[in-house]
Amino acid sequence: MNKISIRNARQPESVGQQATLQGWIRTRRDSKGGFSFLELNDGSCLANIQVIADADLPNYESEIKRLSAGCSVTIHGNIKSSGGKGQATEMQATEVIVHGWADPETYPLQKKRHSMEKLREWAHLRPRTNTFGAVMRVRNQICRSIHNFFQEQDFLYVHTPIITASDCEGAGEMFRVTTLDLANVPKTKSGDVDFEQDFFDRPSYLTVSGQLEGEIYATALGKVYTFGPTFRAENSNTSRHLAEFWMVEPEMAFFDLDDNMQLAEQFLKRIVSDVLENCEEDVEFFQKRIDDTVLATLDTVANQAFQRLSYTEAIDLLEKSGEKFEYPISWGTDLQAEHERFLTEKHFKVPVILHDYPSSIKPFYMKVNEDAKTVRAMDVLVPRVGEIIGGSQREDRLDVLESRMTEQGITPDDYWWYLDLRRYGTVPHSGFGLGLERMVQFVTGMANIRDVIPFPRTPGNVEF
Ligand code: 4AD
Ligand code: MG
Repeated sequence: MNKISIRNARQPESVGQQATLQGWIRTRRDSKGGFSFLELNDGSCLANIQVIADADLPNYESEIKRLSAGCSVTIHGNIKSSGGKGQATEMQATEVIVHGWADPETYPLQKKRHSMEKLREWAHLRPRTNTFGAVMRVRNQICRSIHNFFQEQDFLYVHTPIITASDCEGAGEMFRVTTLDLANVPKTKSGDVDFEQDFFDRPSYLTVSGQLEGEIYATALGKVYTFGPTFRAENSNTSRHLAEFWMVEPEMAFFDLDDNMQLAEQFLKRIVSDVLENCEEDVEFFQKRIDDTVLATLDTVANQAFQRLSYTEAIDLLEKSGEKFEYPISWGTDLQAEHERFLTEKHFKVPVILHDYPSSIKPFYMKVNEDAKTVRAMDVLVPRVGEIIGGSQREDRLDVLESRMTEQGITPDDYWWYLDLRRYGTVPHSGFGLGLERMVQFVTGMANIRDVIPFPRTPGNVEF
């Protein structure tokens, strides 16, 4: 048996092969001449292959003529060249084996196009749609590029823990991990929860970032990256936030903020070029069906230099822009999506790297500048999505780090191991985090982040 993917079967070089295709029927059309056209998809590419099933096949009347959307089949046959539009090849079936029926009365994915919201209710079936197939293939390509990019530059892939006792971003937006009986929580004499009876003998959480542990490995092994799921219990019901998302975080010893910005720009350019090169058919689909600015935007990212400017310059520019913003902006406030979009979409029309933010709106670990007011932070902003990367040079001076922690209400002793990295052989170092889903969203033009991850976790949504 010569099992091949539909992606391969569609190549002109496959003509003349005897092959076996396996997948799910999209449509069936019966011709008056006594045969049927089956459109078959197996997820290997966006396009279907057309299969011709003649009436003299033994199960033609009993089974083939009953096939409908969603039925699963194995088809043996010959690949021929096709005169049909948009297809180089088709298959002439010699045998059609039906594995599973899909009752057309109840199978939800009929010809009708469903809204993205409706499809979210069918998270178990939506990968069978064109849109989600394309999203998942692009997501896979992005993950491949992430690993290739770092591996080719000798970064080590380190696995940082998912369960942790520390809050990297210091924002208190963590999910608790516990084995305590919620109906009968043990208390100490003073009435507090007695975490000594909990699994880890102390409060523990799902990680919001692998950065702190990444720093441990970078300050021993040089250049590392961690890439895994992260969790945030922020109650934001927006099109850009998930409670569970994937983040890739490189961390580099002996990198200053400029090195960090340069790496981030090269990194994004590489991912986008790989997608343009390897996912042509899917990107074309997004351009046609989802967002007709996708191709132009990707082209800009791949080929044009990003704009760098300081937070202070950006505020100045926003204040003088004459734009009416819903949220007023002034030095010391965080940028809202509308401000980010103004900068990248309207003003510069290229991705923007903002750097040197006020220390008051950034976490404790960022290196304080000589002005004592700003920190060596950087955010990369892209059209439509806004912030896609957040990073910084890290504070490498023990005393400054301790006072920043105290300032932000963090007990330095709880982070004694993190402080040790500054106590013993401290080095300038930097890193950043790219939200995988924001990247997929950006590349595909999908409007809602819930539609670029297989099983989105958001407030109130955890069924499957
Ligand atoms: O800016 P953030 O919070 O940075 C950090 O976590 C750093 N510790 C990273 C580092 O320096 N190693 O998050 C980084 C990126 C954001 O720019 C965004 O792309 C994504 O993670 N992100 C989210 N994506 C989806 N849903 C959420 N709730 C997200 N929060 C952050
Ligand atoms: Mg951020």
